[in-house]
This record gives sequence, structure tokens and C-alpha cells, in this order.
Amino acid sequence: MANRDFLTIDDFDTEDKTVLVRVDLNSPMDPEGNILDDMRIRSHVATVKELKNAKVVLLAHQSRPGKNDFTTMSPHASKMSKYLGQDIKYIDDIFGTYARQKISSMEKGDVALLENVRFYSEESLERPVSEHEKTHLVRKLAPLFDIYLNDAFSVSHRSHLSIMGFTNVLPSGAGRIMEKEVTSLDLGKSGGGRPSIFVLGGAKVDDSMKVIEHVLSNNDVDRVLVTGLVGNVMLAASGVDIGEENMRFIEKQGYTDQIDRAKTLLDKFNDKIGVPQDLALNDNGKRIEVGVNELATTNHPVNDIGLETIVSYSKEIENAKTVVLNGPAGVSENEEFALGTREIIKAAAKASYSIVGGGHISAEVLNMGVEDSFYHLSTAGGACIDYLAGEKLPGVEILKEVK
Ligand code: 3PG
Repeated sequence: MANRDFLTIDDFDTEDKTVLVRVDLNSPMDPEGNILDDMRIRSHVATVKELKNAKVVLLAHQSRPGKNDFTTMSPHASKMSKYLGQDIKYIDDIFGTYARQKISSMEKGDVALLENVRFYSEESLERPVSEHEKTHLVRKLAPLFDIYLNDAFSVSHRSHLSIMGFTNVLPSGAGRIMEKEVTSLDLGKSGGGRPSIFVLGGAKVDDSMKVIEHVLSNNDVDRVLVTGLVGNVMLAASGVDIGEENMRFIEKQGYTDQIDRAKTLLDKFNDKIGVPQDLALNDNGKRIEVGVNELATTNHPVNDIGLETIVSYSKEIENAKTVVLNGPAGVSENEEFALGTREIIKAAAKASYSIVGGGHISAEVLNMGVEDSFYHLSTAGGACIDYLAGEKLPGVEILKEVK
């Protein structure tokens, strides 16, 4: 590995040490609590394997407060145990007496996973490191550890407690996934040349808006094509009546304010932003295609982009020199609505140089077996596009600072 501007596992003597590793095991889950795609869980096995001479405690999150899949890490421990070939002890606590006793009684070679760190309300506050250091979580856990590793590149665009809070109080560096992502994306940043296209979908509308502002203001990208919920918000911003049901969904996700943000972007960069011309609705599980002007009268949710949009987006993507895909075009885990996501992936696989980021869409790339046609398959969604857009990620920057 290249000589990096942050420390890596190679810089630490981990023999018999107790190592705290922030990983990102956040995975798509069904309402019954089953993990639908375990790409991220598998990816961290490499880091854990390299620490077999240490006591390893993993710290991670699943989803966000208020979401249906905001749940315990117990299934993640079982999945990861399978891939590691070793039992990972799931600890039903984050930093209380129970967790601390369990950590203190670990032996060399043991691996444990703590409970969902976002169950602790201070985790998700974006605050300066000095504030994070004062929290109970850092004060109670730090004395039990010798080393902190951040292997969660995909959360490193958030200055959250578990990403920032230990870096000044423990010798800190990057795990193997962090290292690999930064190396690949650094090489990939120069891209394959122009025209360059970002295809942004999925449900994290605020992250996507931020990236669109950034890449279009800096003229880093020639076109941004939107799909998924990002597409619906753009359509609403462009004056299309997307129907009550779809407006309610935007509201429920807390993204009503993003419509104004999208309007500003459309006013400024109208010719650079491609919005869907037609969509696929979910009528009791059946796919029905409608033009955007027919949405006003519908009570069905948009679940995919429509055929015309698929054809025109695919043409643009195939002809681009650089393509970055982030987030699915629709509800891709449902066979009936996976078409848009799959066709966009097929087109990007034909482009000379493509990077894909985000859990759902990366899972689809792997399902389709076309990963070799991509320059890099990132474990990250928002962090990947932020990084490619040239933003500094707090979790990466802090590792450089403390080196
Ligand atoms: C992701 O899935 O992109 C990461 O786990 C970060 O999750 P978040 O967007 O809920 O912070």
C-alpha cells in the first residue's frame, strides 16, 4: 500500500492490544429484520482478519432513528461470524457496565460487536471533536482501548461521535476498507475525461442536492441525471404535480425543504440537470408506466423511472467518458421495479470509465455480475459522491490531522 497521509494497520503493533474499530455494517433490511444485502458486512472481514493477534471490538450503526430498519446489530454479528469463520460476540450494550465488563474479559483473538451506536442520542450530533470527547461514550470506552481504527469510509462524511471522538484520545488510524476506498477514489478522481455524468438516485435527497450544487457550481461534471426520490423532488421543483401520495412521501421523509433547494438548482443549471420524462408506478404490485404529466391524478407511488427515460438516460450514459452512479433508480429490490436501475447499470458498464456507490445499487451490480466493468465499486453512498465531488470528509481529515 502507498505511504498514506494517515496511519494504517501497518503502523501499529496490534499484538495483544484491544482495538476499537468503527465499521459500517448499515445494510438494507426487510420488515422482519432480515439483512437483504451483506456487501458491507463482508467487506470489513479483511480488516478484522488482520487483527487476529488483538482483541477486536466493532462499533457500528444500522439506519437512523425513526426509520423502520433502525434496529439491533445482532443479525449483523451472526452474518459477519459466518464470513469471518469465527463467532463474533454480540454485546447488547454500547458503553454501560455490561459492555465494559464484556470488553475487559476478552482474550486475544476474540471479536465483539457492540449495539447500534445510534441508539445513543449523542452519536449523530455534528459537533467539534472537543465536544465529542466529553461524552459518556468516549469517556467510558476510551480507557479500555489501546488503538482506534476508522474503517467506516462510508460514514466519514458525517462528523459523528464514533467517527471523530476517539481520534485525539487514542492512537488512531485507518482500517483496510478506509484505505482501499481512499486509494481507489483518489486514483478515480481524475476520471476518464469529459463528458462526465453523475446519475443520482436513491432516497438520501439532501446528500444528493449538496453534491449537485457542488459539482455543477465547480463545472466538475457536464450533466447530472436524477432518478429515485431525488428525481421526484426535482420534478416537484420543476412545477410538475407529482400527485398527493408522492408528495406525502417526500414530506414523511422530511424532505419538503429540499424542493426549494432543487428549484434554485434548476433555475441556475437547467440544461445540466436531466429529470425523468416518465415513471413506473406501483399499482398493487403491478408496474404501470405514465408520463410525468399524468402523475397529478395518481394515487400510486413512483417506484421506478419509465421506459422513455431509461432509453434517453442510457444513451447519454453510454456516450459519456466518466460516469458516477449513486443510489438506485427505484425500488430495485422488487423485481417489477428493478428495470431502471439495471438498465442504467448496463449503460454505465459500457461507458469507458465508471464508479458506482451506494448499498442498493452496488448490490445490484454484484447480482448482475458486471462488477469487472466498473473502475471501482464503493461501499459508500453519500461519502463516495462527496469525496469524488472534491469535498473533504471530516472522518478522513481527522485521521490525517492526528497522524
Ligand atoms: C450509508 O449508508 O451511506 C452510511 O451508513 C451512512 O448512513 P447515514 O446516511 O444514515 O448517515
